[in-house]
Amino acid sequence: MVSLAGPSGFLSPYLHTAKVLLSRQVKAVVPAAASSGHAAVKQRGSSGDSALFSGHFGVRYAHTDIRIPDFSDYRRHEVMDPKKSAQDSSENRRAFSYLVTASTAVVGVYAAKTVVTQFVSSMSASADVLALSKIEIKLSDIPEGKNMTFKWRGKPLFVRHRTEKEITTEASVDLSELRDPQHDKDRVLNPSWVIVIGVCTHLGCVPIANAGDYGGYYCPCHGSHYDASGRIRKGPAPLNLEVPYYEFPDENIVIVG
Ligand code: FES
Repeated sequence: MVSLAGPSGFLSPYLHTAKVLLSRQVKAVVPAAASSGHAAVKQRGSSGDSALFSGHFGVRYAHTDIRIPDFSDYRRHEVMDPKKSAQDSSENRRAFSYLVTASTAVVGVYAAKTVVTQFVSSMSASADVLALSKIEIKLSDIPEGKNMTFKWRGKPLFVRHRTEKEITTEASVDLSELRDPQHDKDRVLNPSWVIVIGVCTHLGCVPIANAGDYGGYYCPCHGSHYDASGRIRKGPAPLNLEVPYYEFPDENIVIVG
């Protein structure tokens, strides 16, 4: 049943127009139903104070066969009962939401930290490369007063076993005489051993050990003289020979790098 009723007054023309249009539309859409006698259109006061349109047809206007989805599986148990206020369980539900959010955040941060750590560690040198970056030298193989040259990271490495005289001489050098002032004790861990990179600080030649005016190293390329501590004393080289990082795991072994 469809009914339309309205008050009198200024709405009367509109109600009348709607009544006429509705009656025509019903006839056009359901001619069969209308002709079978199941339809009735009642009009009252077509030009009067009110209008009434009534239709009763064998036509279904609501789709009652559509199945309404059931979301019960996805709803929280506390709000399943329509007679209970959702506010009563809001505290518990909020606590659960906070717990889930916090757990997700913790897992996310841990995953991000793992990814970043793996990414950064993938850029560091591998174990075999690190092994090549160090050199272990047996000191008992180097007699006192001798210098031995090793290859380390593609460069010559000088390991010098100094005599007592050399130790005393280098320790007593006045720093004001030096171009690159550095005390001997700041260049050695053990006074008996001088360990330096054998590359001239002028243009990169390899100096000759136990040569030159100071008995340390001599670079024949342009005549630079280094003392027995590897400090530049004469010639064009501007700096002392470089001292690499090294340590003595025991008194007979040195590991450089
Ligand atoms: S490279 Fe050694 S003095 Fe020039």
